[in-house]
Parts: sequence; structure tokens; C-alpha cells
Amino acid sequence: MTNQNVVVPESTINLAITVAVANSSIFSTAAQKPPAAPGGYISISRKNFLKNLEINGGATINALVDSMRASSPTHHKSTPSLVDDQTSWMDQHPSALEMFEQIIDASKGKQIVMFLDYDGTLSPIVEDPDRAFMSKKMRATLRKLARCFPTAIVSGRCRDKVYKFVRLAELYYAGSHGMDIRGPVKGGSKYKKGGGAVLCQPASEFLPMIDEVYKELIERTKSTPGAKVENNKFCLSVHFRCVEEKKWDELIQQVKSVIKEYPKLRLTQGRKVLEIRPTIKWDKGKALEFLLESLGFANCSDVFPVYIGDDRTDEDAFKILRERGQGFGILVSKFPKDTNASYSLQEPNEVMDFLQRLVEWKQMSLGEEASV
Ligand SMILES: *[C@@H]1O[C@H](CO)[C@@H](O)[C@H](O)[C@H]1NC(C)=O
Ligand SMILES: *[C@@H]1O[C@H](CO)[C@@H](O)[C@H](O)[C@H]1NC(C)=O
Ligand SMILES: [Mg+2]
Repeated sequence: MTNQNVVVPESTINLAITVAVANSSIFSTAAQKPPAAPGGYISISRKNFLKNLEINGGATINALVDSMRASSPTHHKSTPSLVDDQTSWMDQHPSALEMFEQIIDASKGKQIVMFLDYDGTLSPIVEDPDRAFMSKKMRATLRKLARCFPTAIVSGRCRDKVYKFVRLAELYYAGSHGMDIRGPVKGGSKYKKGGGAVLCQPASEFLPMIDEVYKELIERTKSTPGAKVENNKFCLSVHFRCVEEKKWDELIQQVKSVIKEYPKLRLTQGRKVLEIRPTIKWDKGKALEFLLESLGFANCSDVFPVYIGDDRTDEDAFKILRERGQGFGILVSKFPKDTNASYSLQEPNEVMDFLQRLVEWKQMSLGEEASV
């Protein structure tokens, strides 16, 4: 049962960009077992590969620096043409608050399941990642939400860390992009499948290697002021929020010089962060599917998953929802971005308003049922 060899060797670009075809058998194992190696693979084109900002042998440093600039909000000043872009983008990805009634209509007769990214979705993006606190009001809203719907936090951070920020035992937590999933620990939620057990750790064999690389990265990036290396257990993050733009090149060189010794790790880029992860075919989309399965919604047509996130890594989950034709994704962004989400919200405060409206709607509909 310990078949965890879902690793893709990175000796060639084609292999490095192999992605798993959604394969429901991955998720049909009992909760405690790691998923079996997925059967089918498709290759994505090199163009998409670069677009998706996977970084390894093939991608140039310049392409990476460009993409780091592009994902940095300071470069999204409102010029008139961007305002036009924004208008048409908003037509395609309307505000989830404005579309609230339509969303509720679409969910009629189905079980809503909530999936929430943490950074930039529930908490504001801040300079110091250790201080990415969410508001008291957000926590209170989440607590109410978890009473109404099964609710999972899906984060790139390690599970312990994201738990320290959220501190609600009634939620599901999928840390390290879903490589580390745990169910609710105690009361407050009637959705308690998994009872606090670790549900899934598909990458545990990588832990010693990741610790080693963490130490090396700290050593190697010491000379770049502002660089911050974070050990997220299954994923290492090198934050460049506080690094001067002219030093980004140097920082990437340093990071690449470390990970080139580790073909089983790969480098990707998020919002103001470089991330080093095992080349395991596991992402927030897989985590979403795994959680739906754990909750007993494997092949249900009457489930309505809602995923809210702000980052590229959330796109994997948006895409899964599109493919399944179930529920939808909501991208948190103030600016037009290429996305597979259906709706948008501008910032964590709007996320909170949206969650609050869901809670009120649920409480009202329960009230109606009770009075019939
Ligand atoms: C879900 O559907 C797939 C294919 O449609 C099937 O192979 C699988 O056995 C089903 N799983 C469950 C738990 O019913
Ligand atoms: C959206 O999904 C399509 C089809 O799977 C994919 O080609 C595209 O890259 C995705 N967009 C983003 C931003 O991930
Ligand atoms: Mg985020």
C-alpha cells in the first residue's frame, strides 16, 4: 500500500511537464492510504509550460524575472487601456457579490462545499509572511460558515502554520498545496469525516530532502537582503516581497544553484514567492478532488463546490471545477488576470462579505424549512 512513486523524473523537459490526467481511481483508496500512482499522463506544450511558470532547465532567467514583474501589483497602474481591459474582464468574471442570487440559484438542491485559499484570500498580502493575520471578523465568519457547509482551507503553507493563523478546529486543512490533509478535530461542525486524522500525505518520502534543501537555501540566499526562506514542510518558499527588484536575478540564480542538485524538486512561482516542491503530481486541484471524495461526494452530481483563491496555484482547482462542471471558482483579484475562475472578488473584505451572505442565506433557508 505504500506505493508513493508518483514522481516524475526531470531529466528532460517533456518529462518535467508531464501532468496527470484526472483519474478517479487515485481517490478511491481508503482515507488513510496514500494515493496509488496515477495511470495516465498527458504532456502540455512547452508554450503552456512557460506560461504556467514552471521553472527548470528550459525557462530562462529573463522569462522568470518578467513574470515576477508581471505578478507584482505595483506594475498594474491604472492606465486608460487597462481600465478598458478591466471592464471586459469584469464582464467575463463578474463580481460574486453582484451575482449572488444567480450563484444561489445554481446551487439549488445541491450540497455546497467551501474551499478557501488563505493568503490573499482570507488574509491581506503583507510584507512579512509571518504576520499574514486574518481579521477577527473573518474568523467569526468562517466559524459560522463551517456550521453551514463543509469548509476546507487549501494553502501553500504547511498545515500547522495555516492552522496557527486560522485556529478553527472545525475546518478541514489541506496544507502544502494539498500534500498534507487533515479533517476537523472537534465539534462545531457536523461535517467531521476523518475525525482529526491525517487523511493524506502523498509526499512524505520527500521530507528529509526538503529539510536539507531548506538549510542550503538559507545559506545561499543570505547575501540577498530581504530574501526570506520558509519551510512549509512539503514545500519551501523563498519570498521576494522585500527584495529590491534589481536583486531578483541574483536571488533566482542562488535558488537555482541549490535546486539543480535535486532533480526530484521543482521550482514554481506564486505571488511574490518562489516555491520549491516535490515533482509529485499533486496540487490544489487534486486536493479538492481528494477532499470531495473524503466527504463522500466522489461521484455525486448533487454537490456544489465553491473554491475561492487569488494565486496561480489556485488555478488547478478552478480547472478541476470547470472539468467536472460542478460549482465554480472565484478569483480574488483587483486586476484582470488570465483565469479559469468564473467569478471575481476584489479583496479579502469582499470574500468575507460573500461568505457572510452565504451564511445568512443558509440560515434563512433553514428557518424556512423549520417553519414549513
Ligand atoms: C466514480 O465514477 C468512476 C467513472 O465514472 C468509476 O470508475 C468509479 O468507480 C466511481 N466511484 C465510486 C466511488 O462510485
Ligand atoms: C485554463 O484552462 C485551460 C484549459 O485547461 C488551460 O489551457 C489554461 O492554461 C487555464 N488558464 C490558467 C490561467 O490556468
Ligand atoms: Mg493565496
